[in-house]
Amino acid sequence: MAVREILIHPDERLRKVAEPVSFPLTDDIRQLVQDMADSMYDAPGVGLAAPQVGASVRIAVTDTVWRDEEVRHKADEEGGVRDLKVWINPEFLWKSDETAVWEEGCLSLPEFYADVERPAAVRLRWYDMEGAVHEADFEGFQAVALQHEFDHLDGKLFIDYLTPLKRNIITKKLKKRFK
Ligand code: NI
Repeated sequence: MAVREILIHPDERLRKVAEPVSFPLTDDIRQLVQDMADSMYDAPGVGLAAPQVGASVRIAVTDTVWRDEEVRHKADEEGGVRDLKVWINPEFLWKSDETAVWEEGCLSLPEFYADVERPAAVRLRWYDMEGAVHEADFEGFQAVALQHEFDHLDGKLFIDYLTPLKRNIITKKLKKRFK
């Protein structure tokens, strides 16, 4: 298990647009995916994008089952309850006009949470570790988590959806705390 350091806003590496991954995956990329999963579970978090560990490639991992605290405890005790998903070169094919508001947090913005409005449902195309392409629809918390994670691949953070005033307050507090 290798836990990598998670970059904290306002690190400029979080603002880069990440590069697509080519197949077959290199050993370095496979190791990166494993380390991203380890880092997400260690944090603990429900999602992590490669730019958050300083790797500018279009990969994210999520485990939205894991967010349920009871499930998390069970996973720790029994193992195997986890539902790790790996998303490579993801692309939204469609987003609903209907929106939903969820409270979001981010491992790169520790201890800050805010309501964010996003499309309530999405259709996604992505690649798995073997290079096979998949398409599926998502709604509810999973739709939110995927949009949040894939924003990271374009250098975007959830605070970009807040007012400049709120964003500045959060940025200042983080700068102070992590200087
Ligand atoms: Ni995040």
